[in-house]
Amino acid sequence: MNASRDDGSLAPAALVERVAAVLAGERDFIANAANAVAAIYFGMPDVNWVGTYRLSDDELVLGPFCGKPACVRIALDTGVCGAAATREETVVVDDVHAFEGHIACDAASASEIVVPLVGPQGLVGVLDVDSPRQARFGPLERAALEAIAALLVVGSDLKG
Ligand code: SME
Repeated sequence: MNASRDDGSLAPAALVERVAAVLAGERDFIANAANAVAAIYFGMPDVNWVGTYRLSDDELVLGPFCGKPACVRIALDTGVCGAAATREETVVVDDVHAFEGHIACDAASASEIVVPLVGPQGLVGVLDVDSPRQARFGPLERAALEAIAALLVVGSDLKG
């Protein structure tokens, strides 16, 4: 990955603090999601795609992201994103090629974690992070990304 990303790498707990800082004082969901995914993309080593999908009319629709252009709509019964959304729990996939139904948006992706975004009104979307390294996402990364998902939901005004 490029030098500026390597220079900006943070430990998972420090990444949560960075995201809390960039979200402070703003409650627009799109703006906060855009800054959160950029902070993850530039702060977490070895990731090639970081983004959000929002629940809209019973499907997931692409939201702010960093990385290559991605599929726009994902049905709730497909992909890692659909699994995390349906179960309303984090799904960690160490090898995307072994996950039946995985949707390949970037051929470089080897492992993936999807964290549901759940507000007071229920599921509002998912946070999806891909890595070109197998088994990239361990307990520390999972905890950090779940904390970031909570910051995003609590710190933003979510509309329908
Ligand atoms: N791999 C995801 C689709 C989204 S891309 O990774 C950006 C999935 O299987 O749901």
